[in-house]
Amino acid sequence: MADLADKLNRPLLDAAGVTVGDRVLDLASGAGEPALGAARRVGAQGLVVGSDLVPGMLAGAVRRAGSEAARGVEAPVFTAADMTALPFADGSFDRVTCRFGIMFVPDAAGALHAVRRALRPGGTAAFMVWGPLSGNALFAEVAAAVAEHLGEDGSLDPLFRFAEPGLLSGLMRDAGFARAEETDLTPVRKAPADQPFWWAALDMSFGHRLGDLSADRRGALEASIAARFAARAADGVVPVPAHVRIVTGTVAG
Ligand SMILES: C[S@@+](CC[C@H](N)C(=O)[O-])C[C@H]1O[C@@H](n2cnc3c(N)ncnc32)[C@H](O)[C@@H]1O
Repeated sequence: MADLADKLNRPLLDAAGVTVGDRVLDLASGAGEPALGAARRVGAQGLVVGSDLVPGMLAGAVRRAGSEAARGVEAPVFTAADMTALPFADGSFDRVTCRFGIMFVPDAAGALHAVRRALRPGGTAAFMVWGPLSGNALFAEVAAAVAEHLGEDGSLDPLFRFAEPGLLSGLMRDAGFARAEETDLTPVRKAPADQPFWWAALDMSFGHRLGDLSADRRGALEASIAARFAARAADGVVPVPAHVRIVTGTVAG
């Protein structure tokens, strides 16, 4: 998703109000987004802590931070942390960011309480979640092909848990955020038609259903996915519309 990274990270950091000198906590950083961009923005006077429940997920992020630092670019520090039990003193951060993470946390309300406590008065948290499946062609096409070949099983339900407008902002207000707002974005990714750019989405969302498939059945499934995207291609590019939502909450000042 490298080509979409800037289109997604910039509005998320803007929504959180990340600026020079801020102390920022990024939750569920995975391979490091948007923590790496936040560190460039806050500069040497600021601090970005990237975090994830799974220490192994952070290995790539730590490697990427190392190469940024080697080039003299400000980089985050990374640490393992469960967003429902944050190991930081109350009021430690000016901003909290989280890209595509909160939907995987069963106790999302507990996470939002923990985030509110970690923020200083007047601090802001911004979460990026997926809008409806119908607006996300990458997942919609892959899911349709999987359903055709293997039947439906709700594998994507967690991913689209906050697709309903108002759901996450309501939870933020319940957790004590003074203001909570939602903004939807509909960027279009330009994917290379000659590459299986959909493979990671298939593997991440449906990998647990693919292990037992014969090579023939797997090949047939992959051919169907490729055909669906080929039907959208023009001039070597597949336009892949996405629908994401940024949900922002501010702590009373
Ligand atoms: C789809 S990845 C998002 C990674 C990155 N933010 C991005 O946008 O590319 C979701 C991440 O959420 C993390 N995660 C799941 N539950 C969590 C929790 N309770 N606390 C912190 N991170 C969690 C997972 O380990 C995974 O790295």
